[in-house]
Amino acid sequence: MKTTGGSDAMKRRAGESAAEAVDDGDVVGLGTGSTAAHAIRAIGARVDAGLDVRGVATSFASRERALEAGIPLVDLDEVTGPDAAGIDVAVDGADQVAVGGENSSDGGADRVAGDLDLIKGGGGAHAREKLVDSAAERFVVVADPSKEAAVLDRAVPVEVLPSARGVVAEAVRAAGGEATLRRAERKDGPVVTDNGNLLLDCAFGEIPEPEALSGTLAGTPGVLEHGLFVGLADEVHVGTAEGVRILEA
Ligand code: A5P
Repeated sequence: MKTTGGSDAMKRRAGESAAEAVDDGDVVGLGTGSTAAHAIRAIGARVDAGLDVRGVATSFASRERALEAGIPLVDLDEVTGPDAAGIDVAVDGADQVAVGGENSSDGGADRVAGDLDLIKGGGGAHAREKLVDSAAERFVVVADPSKEAAVLDRAVPVEVLPSARGVVAEAVRAAGGEATLRRAERKDGPVVTDNGNLLLDCAFGEIPEPEALSGTLAGTPGVLEHGLFVGLADEVHVGTAEGVRILEA
């Protein structure tokens, strides 16, 4: 599993806090990554204790974790569309959260207010994550303080059709960025997503206007989905050394 950022205890606190946002009867989006994994385990523990929920996985990995945790699963297309139940709440991690204030050298930020725009896709799952998270009535992000930044500045993961990687890399350059094909660590060649596509990690430096960049990337032919989540998060549960801080959009 890809692990990043703060301690496991911080991630666990965030995950357990977000699991409390789930109510009996809910359809729940289940995010991907090491922090969301704690939320899945905590929701599973509540299912063991009698909670009645149905989960929608955002990746192969989150489906595996949900099965291990004993959470009944449904497909996204079973719960979305006219007259469908919909997704009540989604719980998902993030690689970076914009919270306002000034970026500090340790990656944290001082303020606890901001737009809560996100960069996601460190695990390459952002296409299905964005589908599920944006379909949810309430989107709860789980994070640790290392993910907080005044201004988003991490490379933006972009999922592309394999044959489009050159075209998209050119478009990214024209937009002021630098695209790097994500390479696998235990396989020769690139990372291939759950959807059979490739990933370009696109460095733009600071992203003061994520909405504009989001539109540019979304409008680039060959792009399946990018990892800027603008205006989607309703709240962020930040696990800290002492407890949990909740930021609201
Ligand atoms: C998966 O593609 C990502 O969007 C994850 O949600 C994100 O990378 C957070 O993962 P961690 O909780 O492991 O840092």
